[in-house]
Amino acid sequence: MTPELAIDVRGLTKRFGHRVVVDKVDLQVARGTVCGFLGPNGSGKTTTIRMLCGLLRPDAGEGTCLGLDVIRESRRIKLLSGYMTQKFGLYEDLSIRENLEFVARLFGIAQRAQAVDQALERLGLTARQDQLADTLSGGWKQRLALAACLIHSPQLLLLDEPTAGVDPKARREFWDEIHRLAAEGMTVLVSTHYMDEAERCDELVYIAYGAVLARGTAEAVIQQAGLAPGATLEEAFVQLIDRAHDNYAPA
Ligand SMILES: Nc1ncnc2c1ncn2[C@@H]1O[C@H](COP(=O)(O)OP(=O)(O)OP(=O)(O)O)[C@@H](O)[C@H]1O
Ligand SMILES: [Mg+2]
Repeated sequence: MTPELAIDVRGLTKRFGHRVVVDKVDLQVARGTVCGFLGPNGSGKTTTIRMLCGLLRPDAGEGTCLGLDVIRESRRIKLLSGYMTQKFGLYEDLSIRENLEFVARLFGIAQRAQAVDQALERLGLTARQDQLADTLSGGWKQRLALAACLIHSPQLLLLDEPTAGVDPKARREFWDEIHRLAAEGMTVLVSTHYMDEAERCDELVYIAYGAVLARGTAEAVIQQAGLAPGATLEEAFVQLIDRAHDNYAPA
């Protein structure tokens, strides 16, 4: 039976040296939903994402991704999830198609050409498939990166600031695709600094200093920030970080 929660972790903690950068984070994301992951620079978003997909071993905490244990079954989690890194991670001197073929090989996909064709088609990349990745604009690079995440038909997408530095039209198209994927059953955890994108998420998780400060719908986050309905998410985040600064930041 597939669990209702695609992500269900408690107490996730990561230290680098003596510094605790992710501090007892609980995260629950229902299948087929889009969860926005927000927080200031250095708050622990990327580190949390890397623990969820099995790239980084938590120092403490437990739970599951897609019903699989985040510590003992990280290899299987990797095979069932797509992770889009914060920095473009594909080969700039390979074409779009060559990059996708390469990723398909890494995942050992049997019908490689077909999987690549489908990913190209899905992201509108077919006409540009022979273009070198290096020559693509930011928006097209992000589409290629998303295509690469989808090639092995994952059930969970972990997208780390996928639209940073991308123009508004390309961002909107990227988000339309995220919503199409979610409508087909994909679960998406996506980090972003853009407020318009936060508003397009089903639920939000806001972290600072490695700890979750607020979570839930946009309305719930505004309420948890102590603001009246009608306040903006931006106002709520500013309020939350100001309050956290008093509690966490060194004097
Ligand atoms: N491998 C590492 N070794 C030491 N410190 C690290 C390592 N990776 C991250 N950090 C530190 O952990 C903290 C959290 O970093 P992380 O990259 O998770 O933040 P983030 O929320 O993704 O930030 P941003 O919005 O800038 O991407 C930062 O202070 C960072 O410098
Ligand atoms: Mg980051």
